[in-house]
Amino acid sequence: MQPDQTIFSMNETLKTINDRRSIRAFAKEEISDKQIRILLQAANEAPSAHNQQSWRFVVLKGQKKVGLAELVTEAASRFSRPAQTLLRMSARSIASAPVVIAVANSGYLIDHGTELFTVEKAMAHDFFRTMEIQSSAAAVQNMLLAATSLGLATVWLGIMFLIKDEVLAFLGEPEGEFMAVVPVGHAARESGSGPQKEPFGMKVKYLD
Ligand SMILES: Cc1cc2nc3c(=O)[nH]c(=O)nc-3n(C[C@H](O)[C@H](O)[C@H](O)COP(=O)(O)O)c2cc1C
Repeated sequence: MQPDQTIFSMNETLKTINDRRSIRAFAKEEISDKQIRILLQAANEAPSAHNQQSWRFVVLKGQKKVGLAELVTEAASRFSRPAQTLLRMSARSIASAPVVIAVANSGYLIDHGTELFTVEKAMAHDFFRTMEIQSSAAAVQNMLLAATSLGLATVWLGIMFLIKDEVLAFLGEPEGEFMAVVPVGHAARESGSGPQKEPFGMKVKYLD
């Protein structure tokens, strides 16, 4: 079945989902504290396993944000390509965005999951870690969609997992687990439609 693009004009939520694109270069324009609070509140509304909400958000601006960009640039030189290139690109996105929001798992569910829910011991760590990652990923996506709805640009920087221990220490979240670093701002230039999505029909089967 051919994708029907008209569904995205059916309502604001579908339009926002369709409009969201990864933007990696940002204009100098600031974003307001109110906009930041909206993004954090939207992220915090995400579903979470056992409703544990075990995510942490760290908002970086000013010199702290510059420090993160420097850390990533320095770390990049220890890697060969393509990781080096992707880390350097990440550093440039961080440097150009007015604000960066980092998301980490608190690790609470991993440490205390078995007190909430009985799972076979051999599986418990994997189970609760996966649940925690999936919950935080939902929070990140909420944040990206909320940003799009406000006319803001974002990109989810997952490559920084390669230097996660340094990044978590820098964020003051050494106990946590790295999820995402998201530069937020206004797009430096008009964004195109982004990479084409494969038709969803290729990925679906219906069982009846
Ligand atoms: C888990 C995850 C990790 C990602 N990591 C990076 C990254 O490190 N650097 C980057 O430029 N984009 C990253 N992206 C963005 C993807 O490259 C992007 O979503 C994809 O190319 C599709 O483009 P779109 O977001 O515009 O639809 C990541 C996206 C996800 C979901």
